[in-house]
Amino acid sequence: MEKEIRALKARKNAVVMAHNYQSMEIQALADVVGDSLELAVKAKETGADLIVVCGVRFMAETAKILNPGRKVIIPVEDAGCPLADFLTPDLIREAKALYPDAAVVVYVNSTAESKALADITCTSANAVGVVRSLPQDTILFGPDANLAAYVQREIPEKTIVPVPPGGHCYVHMGFTLADVKAAKKSGSMVVCHPECPPEVQEQADLIASTGGMVRSAATGRDEPWSVFTEREMVSRLRVLYPGRVFYEKPEAVCADMKKISLADLRQALESEEHEVVLSPEVMDRARRAIERMIAVGA
Ligand code: 13P
Ligand code: SF4
Repeated sequence: MEKEIRALKARKNAVVMAHNYQSMEIQALADVVGDSLELAVKAKETGADLIVVCGVRFMAETAKILNPGRKVIIPVEDAGCPLADFLTPDLIREAKALYPDAAVVVYVNSTAESKALADITCTSANAVGVVRSLPQDTILFGPDANLAAYVQREIPEKTIVPVPPGGHCYVHMGFTLADVKAAKKSGSMVVCHPECPPEVQEQADLIASTGGMVRSAATGRDEPWSVFTEREMVSRLRVLYPGRVFYEKPEAVCADMKKISLADLRQALESEEHEVVLSPEVMDRARRAIERMIAVGA
């Protein structure tokens, strides 16, 4: 299977992009592995004819928006992100009517239609920098209310309004204060994703995007890490840093990220099925918001 996938990639001049939560066998065959921001930046730079995104739909949509002239496919059509589904264009319009002077910041975990209504997008790696870069004092921020709370704590001088108020990722909502207590009792550092609940974030030793976790783990401190995000992240950290100790939470599984198998990847490369198709108008508007984010470079 691996050989066939490599041969298909070469024959079709295809690039395979995988998120940090993909299975390790998919990551091993990918040309790019990273967090949402890293995948977006690399998608912009690729010269491949075919882009296969092993992640969830919003990641494939972002790659398509940044490469309107290239074919972008997702191996499993219904690999979605329940967090992205919390935000609709109507909710953004309603919030804008209430706060006409506010800026609209849309987390990349969102649909293309929602991004098209954003002034700028952000990822968990750059949310604070993106919000700081804006002149407005009031920021409509969606769909993740926990990431919004994190930004609010970091930038108390602005008002961050979560849209909708309760948008969340079920995987990260599963982390509790009891997990923090158990981790600290075991002597490990608590490293959490900003999608975790605010009370968990407040007790954490480090809050980082998945890419931020990869970078911080390289800095050489020796204590064990309890990693509060999707458990595949820990598999990746163990491969990258074999001398270090990382603990995962076995229940922290993103079901949609796990939908793509090696067989699906091979089939996708062969058939080129499940192409991402978006309206040119939505893509043009969403691209402005994504490129503005990339230009902030935070
Ligand atoms: P990252 O951008 O940190 O990889 O997060 C994406 C995501 O879906 C987190 O659940
Ligand atoms: Fe969406 Fe949560 Fe899965 Fe990330 S972990 S893709 S936010 S459902």
